[in-house]
Amino acid sequence: MQIRASVHRDFTIAVIDDRLYSAFIEHMGRAIYSGIHEPDHPEADERGFRRDVMSLVRDLHIPTIRYPGGNFVSAYRWEDGVGPSEQRPVRLDLAWRTRETNQVGINEFGAWAESAGIDMMLAVNLGSRGLEEARNFVEYVNHPGGTWWSDLRRSHGVENPWNVNLWCLGNEMDGPWQIGHKEAKEYGRLADETAKALRGLTPTAEFVVCGSSHDHMPSYPDWEREVLEQCYDNVDYISLHKYFGNRSGDTLDYFATIEETGRYIQTIAGVIDYVKAKKRSARDVYICFDEWNVWYHNRDEDDRRVAQWDWPEAPALLEETYNFEDALLVAGLINEFIRRSDRVRIACIAQLVNVIAPIRAERGGPAWRQTIYWPFQFASRYGRGRALRVAVDGPTYNAPNASDVQYLDIAAVHNPAEGALTFFIINRHLTEPASLDLDLHGFDGARLDMHHSMSGHDPKASNGPDRPDHIVPVPGNGLGVEDNRLRGELAPLSWHTVRLG
Ligand code: AHR
Repeated sequence: MQIRASVHRDFTIAVIDDRLYSAFIEHMGRAIYSGIHEPDHPEADERGFRRDVMSLVRDLHIPTIRYPGGNFVSAYRWEDGVGPSEQRPVRLDLAWRTRETNQVGINEFGAWAESAGIDMMLAVNLGSRGLEEARNFVEYVNHPGGTWWSDLRRSHGVENPWNVNLWCLGNEMDGPWQIGHKEAKEYGRLADETAKALRGLTPTAEFVVCGSSHDHMPSYPDWEREVLEQCYDNVDYISLHKYFGNRSGDTLDYFATIEETGRYIQTIAGVIDYVKAKKRSARDVYICFDEWNVWYHNRDEDDRRVAQWDWPEAPALLEETYNFEDALLVAGLINEFIRRSDRVRIACIAQLVNVIAPIRAERGGPAWRQTIYWPFQFASRYGRGRALRVAVDGPTYNAPNASDVQYLDIAAVHNPAEGALTFFIINRHLTEPASLDLDLHGFDGARLDMHHSMSGHDPKASNGPDRPDHIVPVPGNGLGVEDNRLRGELAPLSWHTVRLG
């Protein structure tokens, strides 16, 4: 298969917001308890956080993490998670039908995020609670001192405020399953008033309003329009969520869902533009894709277990084992986010540890990287800078989910400060290698600095505690730069990060 492509130094899509490489972690399953926090584990630090997990998290270079939910936040009482740990109440978590011990709350999580070098993006409960509790939470978290809530924080041993600047106004409020689910107009009004009040407390704060839970919701995309009509001038981002799966066993169709994601982004960008025009507003609202990942391997089985179980504490839940084709799907999604970085400012892989996560950790045992860890890590490390347009001329395929899908997926990021041009490339063809000829306009004298790839694996192969390094990027070969052209052959079903200097 012959592919001709070209990139031009001046054809910039956008300066990528570093927060495109963010993550999400929720109080559910074993994400927090025995994921990041396990006081009895041999690797636990003095606060009970696992050092082995922390080290894998740090290597992802995540700028921002969304916490504490997810569906969990819609019935969460944040006050239960502060103060002396032995006095904290055990509560029933209505979202996942489990028991929440509240041994980790905002101050423990804040300390963990700080040592991981990650900023927090906190969600307030607009399901079972409202503006008043949200306002108390922000005052506890962000006010320096001298008031009831800020002095309460100080009495809990946290002298300095956490200074959280990014706030989610609830979670998936369009979903009938959500505790405190609302109609669009009702939620839009509440989001508007809440953002207005919270901005009074933290003037620099940015707010994320809930869009649809996914692009197949019956109320999509009217939900976004109605919500934004209520709150456009007080919010900064609208959230998008989408989970992926190869349910039909058709790998090419699975990859085609990335095109569907492109349409989803395009549609919401259109809704934003529509409301902006209607309101004669001068400000922009961007997209925060704050939940995305593969989620289907155990989904039906997990639903059955949750419906039947008797409120267990930190049970295994949504512990998906990812395979090689999942890693290629994740790589393609990140490429799509890079290409749409003009509208998508923030994106959070959902989630981070154990629950639909790039990192798995056994209770009392080892932690390891799943296949999807790698494309995320390489993009997060090397995908900072300016997204460049790449013109690709090559064979395409049709699938139930989308037509005219390029077999070769390329995203390009130019980092002038580092003098680097990075390509993230996926050959989605199941059997044919791709012979690439990529014209580099405006990059005279570019040299190949680094090429890492993953290829030659069974699409269903995965990593595990017994073979943590079965699928990992290795130095690639077969590509070179000559006469300002990147040329060479890319194996079928392969992923590549190629960095030119
Ligand atoms: O990430 C798992 C769940 O998926 C989240 O709690 C919810 O927001 C979404 O439906």
